[in-house]
Amino acid sequence: HGRSGRTAATDGWTPVEPNVRDTVSVPSGYRTSLVAAWGDAVVAGAPAFDPYAQTPEGAAQQFGYNNDYIGVLPLDRQHALLVCNHEYTNEELMFPPDTYDSATTKKIAMASHGMSVLKIQRQGRSGSWKRTSPRASSYNRRITASTPFELDGPAAGDARLRTTADPSGRTVLGTLNNCAGGTTPWGTVLSGEENFNQYFDKSGALDSRYTTSYARYGITGTGSRGWSEVDPRFDLTTEPHEPFRFGWVVEIDPHDPRSTPRKHTMLGRFKHEGANIHIADSGHAVAYMGDDERGDYLYKFVSADRFDARDTQAARRRNLQLLTRGTLYVAKLTGDGGTVDPATNRFVPTDGEWDGTGAWIPLTSDTTSYVAGMSVADVLIDTRLAADKVSPTRMDRPEDVEPNPVNGRIYAALTNNSNRGTSYPVDEPNPLGSSNTRPALGAALTRQSGNRNGYVLELAENGNDHAGAAFTWKLLLVCGDPESPETYFAGFPKDRVSPISCPDNVTFDSVGNLWVATDGNVLGSHDGLFRVPVAGPSRGQVQQFLTVPVGAECCGPLLGPDDGSVWAAIQHPGEGGTYAAPTSTWPHTHAFPRPGVVVTHRA
Ligand code: FEO
Ligand code: CA
Ligand code: CA
Ligand code: CA
Repeated sequence: HGRSGRTAATDGWTPVEPNVRDTVSVPSGYRTSLVAAWGDAVVAGAPAFDPYAQTPEGAAQQFGYNNDYIGVLPLDRQHALLVCNHEYTNEELMFPPDTYDSATTKKIAMASHGMSVLKIQRQGRSGSWKRTSPRASSYNRRITASTPFELDGPAAGDARLRTTADPSGRTVLGTLNNCAGGTTPWGTVLSGEENFNQYFDKSGALDSRYTTSYARYGITGTGSRGWSEVDPRFDLTTEPHEPFRFGWVVEIDPHDPRSTPRKHTMLGRFKHEGANIHIADSGHAVAYMGDDERGDYLYKFVSADRFDARDTQAARRRNLQLLTRGTLYVAKLTGDGGTVDPATNRFVPTDGEWDGTGAWIPLTSDTTSYVAGMSVADVLIDTRLAADKVSPTRMDRPEDVEPNPVNGRIYAALTNNSNRGTSYPVDEPNPLGSSNTRPALGAALTRQSGNRNGYVLELAENGNDHAGAAFTWKLLLVCGDPESPETYFAGFPKDRVSPISCPDNVTFDSVGNLWVATDGNVLGSHDGLFRVPVAGPSRGQVQQFLTVPVGAECCGPLLGPDDGSVWAAIQHPGEGGTYAAPTSTWPHTHAFPRPGVVVTHRA
């Protein structure tokens, strides 16, 4: 550790050029294999995948749709547990036309949400991995939109969390729209419930008690998925509390397949992208989190209790309670000065860097609210409304936020904000009111209003105290095409970086290089995965390692073990097309696309 971004397994490659190929492209000398795809058997007894013979019961035993977060938890040198989120479904790509009735497609969609746990096996000494037979694994598990979860923490049982089916307000069926996540130092997986508002519709009026809350979360009753047809709890008119039971960080224990997964009210309710843990020097567990909406906030949680590093059952039980008590904070970033250029509507920093200081503003502990007029439960259930009252910094869609285990700094993907510079004025942490895109690969740059390509923010806790309340920050990357004047790559020469657009998920290799996956490239080429050293002379040198197929975003990313395996989740390949008229057929097993998880390794 501490060397300047060098690691044997992932060094010495030539970056992948921007392209629009319907495949996963990696540097010469590397090979990619498919580990799991939508429809593959997860649970023993699962039916073989057949697009014409799909059933809700079968889908609940098979790998779900639109894999997002990837966790790999080692069991021994040759085996591990692969944990994946299944964020949402693309019915237009899943079902042959005129094959299923409406109710069946909705039930299959519900069963194709959630998470998968499956045992995998390393192929010899290579970086390649394969699924083991479900019959040979007692760990394999599917979690769907119907799996019971326990609500815990201070807001559990609150009147707003009670429904007809659950008068206790403590048991929720399912997890929805699971986006990114994090693997904890105590061997569990966290997952963020993101755009949960889209699942709710209405048969009549909305409950007027919740008008303000619903509005702040985009809960309009116009959810497009129509699930109330098969499950009445998704009808807001009759079950006004069901949406309060989503939008949480969930924790599952993949090592204990019989455990009840939990939703932690202590970490607040918003459109959680994910959560990543750093153990502070004091021993407290600190969770860093983003709320992915234009103009929303960065958060952190600091546990009241300390992580117990011992490998005992008692320590394990204690660690499983860390996310139930503590303090929730929201971030305010202050710049150190500059001016807005009226010609471009961009913030030009006086010192040449977009940087400054910041404060973590406490919202509530498990016993005391710090927001006037709101109780602890109010703050945790309506976290966005609570945060609004303390004037945090409105950010450009905070996605994955993750501490770098080598340098202790925190890296946040701020994916884009088409309304920056108009409804959200520019400031030093959000400097672009206009930016350049390419309508197609090779086409000329075109200036548009807003921040279209996103940023990567680097945040350093004062004194490296992750439990503290003050930090400094700077933009590590102002993304885009390096030919575009507004881009910035930590000062690295622009003629030696890859174009990068719309950072979404981040991870780190063993020497602390940042790896960034993208979603929504507006430079005319496909999304992918990029390596960015953050120390030494190569700091800021963005290099593309992987590109994804037509219509897909790159999710997951993860390196390990020993940087020898580069994991990526290929989400929504072919989005924009249909089953009958596909724009992608990746992974080329059928005439239609299938989301899947791939691993890339030295050939
Ligand atoms: Fe599901 Fe914010 O990406
Ligand atoms: Ca500055
Ligand atoms: Ca994401
Ligand atoms: Ca991550």
